[in-house]
Amino acid sequence: MTKAARSPTGLVTNHSIGWALLLGTGITLAGCETNSPAATDSSPPATAAELSREGSRNGRQIFRFDTYGDDQFWTDTLGLNKIVEQSVDPITALSVGLKVDASVLPEGILKRVDLTSPATTVALLKLNSVVGIQATVDEQNHITKLGITCALCHSTVDNSVAPGIGRRLDGWPNGDLNVGAIVALSPAVTPAQKAVFLSWGPGKYDPRFNIDGLNTRWSSHPAYGLANVKNETYTAEGPLSYWNAYVAVTQMHGHGNFIDPRLGISIIQQPDLVTSKLPALREYQHGLPVPAVAAGSVNAAMAERGRAIFNRSCASCHVGGNGTDNNSGILHAPSETGMDPAYAERTTSNAYRTTPLRGLVHHSPYFHDGSAATLADVVAHYNRVRNLGLNRGSAAATGGVSEDVVKRDGQGGARDGQDGRALVETDLTAPSDLVRPVRLVLTGTTQDSLGAAAPPSARR
Ligand code: HEC
Ligand code: HEC
Repeated sequence: MTKAARSPTGLVTNHSIGWALLLGTGITLAGCETNSPAATDSSPPATAAELSREGSRNGRQIFRFDTYGDDQFWTDTLGLNKIVEQSVDPITALSVGLKVDASVLPEGILKRVDLTSPATTVALLKLNSVVGIQATVDEQNHITKLGITCALCHSTVDNSVAPGIGRRLDGWPNGDLNVGAIVALSPAVTPAQKAVFLSWGPGKYDPRFNIDGLNTRWSSHPAYGLANVKNETYTAEGPLSYWNAYVAVTQMHGHGNFIDPRLGISIIQQPDLVTSKLPALREYQHGLPVPAVAAGSVNAAMAERGRAIFNRSCASCHVGGNGTDNNSGILHAPSETGMDPAYAERTTSNAYRTTPLRGLVHHSPYFHDGSAATLADVVAHYNRVRNLGLNRGSAAATGGVSEDVVKRDGQGGARDGQDGRALVETDLTAPSDLVRPVRLVLTGTTQDSLGAAAPPSARR
């Protein structure tokens, strides 16, 4: 992808300057290396169960409700408190992907209120029920302060009450959230910036746009299942707390310190409302459970065959099924896995980390840019870029899978070679018998559920 293509609006240079001014984050070219958050994460997670539980409780509070003082930005700079109060009714809020935590709502309230009135949004904020948003509402029902928390992008709800309303699911990516559309509501945003924000769409967010002015497709990902992963982010810049501090300070605009000479960022703000919270936050994130695969959704026999294919073609990087070879320091050039290099080129590593596979069935799309909509697409992608030969139609190449494909076509018998290949190739454009075995093994990557026997009912 060319540079021009990366910036569909063609407004990159203007933005980076305008945006930096707008944010007033105090970004400077730094040579300063004190107090880097990276240093705070070098020790392993606490081992004493007590300590860990305590930290996790605090961490949950921080993850869900702490703004690190970022309301300064979202209120004073962006003026979103006024916009929300005046013009964002609950229907609109839900339509840009905001979620409501039903557990704090008084019984039956949703039936009694007007969901087309911004006043209802204010009431919901007053109840602290909007996931990832913290607001202070005065006695006249004016929003005097509005800020965001980690939960905005990294939690969703189970829709148990209505779409967008239910119990919190921390660590699950909010694939409906349209951060760009929300920020674009601000009167402080220029038309040029607005064009970029509106180009993102639901579930997409570019966590480096305000740093380098570039704009590449980025998809939201789960924050669970990272306990055994040494380096966070798809390009492995550093451990969990490094990235947490990066986001809290440079993206949420929390009041605190973030220094990374590699990126030329040195932000020091007193008081630092971020650094002291990083250990508890890490503890909580590391404890977030990977959602299980629904009982009955995995065909054990198929998964076994898929496992053989996985072990042969995938496990060298996805070590142990759901791990990553990045724990041994390995990174992969984008070409190794056929990835768009545009995002990696904006980072210090220029390469991608093997993503740990966790609860895959619960969080499409896949790859850093969401370029694979389904697991079948993931397999088709690898099949193509790494010449796995899954469509050769020979039982040896596909782990015996081609027989199924042939049988499914009603031809019966062990037809092979050209016919099988044609059938398989057709199937590869859609979820198919060929890709299903690998897909099944992938959906079962919480390990314990890997072998669960079951009819193939809940496939996606
Ligand atoms: C505005 C949306 C947004 C907010 C708010 C946000 N994040 Fe993120 N987060 C992202 C995006 C986008 C990425 C992907 C970046 C990458 O991997 O390069 C990400 C990645 C991560 C990852 C790495 C996931 C992985 O699989 O490697 C962790 C962990 C994380 N965020 C934690 C946090 C924490 C903790 C907070 C609060 C301090 C937070 N995030 C706030 C958007 C957000
Ligand atoms: C050469 C190393 C390598 C091999 C071999 C490999 N992968 Fe990957 N895998 C990666 C890297 C690197 C990424 C991150 C790519 C990105 O997001 O840009 C990744 C990402 C993924 C993802 C996306 C996960 C998510 O949450 O977004 C899935 C799924 C996946 N691989 C499955 C497989 C399967 C199935 C195979 C075998 C057919 C395989 N991988 C073989 C290195 C590898």
